[in-house]
Amino acid sequence: MTATTGTIPAHIAVIMDGNGRWATKRGLPRTKGHKAGTEAARAIVTHCREIGVRHLTLYTFSKENWARPKEEVGTLFDLLTSFLKNEQKQLLEQDIRLKVLGDVDGLPLAVRTVLKRVMEKTAGCAGMTLNLALNYGGRDEIVRACRRLVQQGLAPEQIDEQALSRELFTAGQPDPDLVIRTSGEIRISNYLLFQTAYSEFYFTDVLWPDFTPDHLDAAIADLNSRQRRFGKTGQQLEQDDK
Ligand code: IPE
Ligand code: IPE
Ligand code: MG
Repeated sequence: MTATTGTIPAHIAVIMDGNGRWATKRGLPRTKGHKAGTEAARAIVTHCREIGVRHLTLYTFSKENWARPKEEVGTLFDLLTSFLKNEQKQLLEQDIRLKVLGDVDGLPLAVRTVLKRVMEKTAGCAGMTLNLALNYGGRDEIVRACRRLVQQGLAPEQIDEQALSRELFTAGQPDPDLVIRTSGEIRISNYLLFQTAYSEFYFTDVLWPDFTPDHLDAAIADLNSRQRRFGKTGQQLEQDDK
């Protein structure tokens, strides 16, 4: 276990990017990059649990990722299925609850089946919540939430930020304090659009399969060196701290 100092963020959200390039650099098929990416994810889940992160969200498959070659999509779901099967015991032992953010009904049956089982088994776990953003799109999530508010017959004045938040996949969870994106890309790619209104962003050139707990600690240290102002002045915040 690596040493981490300072405040541990309550919620870290990660865009695990760069698996394909990691493999290509090594003359391997992209699918090998996804396999290596799964190992990196496993280590980060355990590390987050150890250092006391309460919510970890991993961008696992976006709605837009359906546009990839069929074979790659198939491999991604196969890897996810075996990851869940292998991790079930570990998750329980580590007291980690599994949740899915996204359109579960649109996932292949084999994936849905194993997800349902692991979610049921870990429903009582309270050490950390592991959210897998799966078949997820941030705009889609907001549209769904609006539809549900309309279905519930809310009057316009009853629709506020809290009401909308309650209908998001992340209902009841704090907004991410920190969003990490690997592989040097500096964009949000339709991730947690509503929830990241005041998140801090950390971009690194490290490709996801190479991302280690030490890299995560560096991201947290960077976050702890920043002042989150939420619209206030730096002076006001210093006063608030007194
Ligand atoms: C992230 O790695 C994994 C998924 C999007 C599923 P990529 O597969 O996007 O890797 P690059 O960006 O092509 O290197
Ligand atoms: C974002 O990565 C989605 C996941 C990490 C699952 P992408 O590689 O799909 O994002 P873009 O297409 O480069 O924006
Ligand atoms: Mg990518």
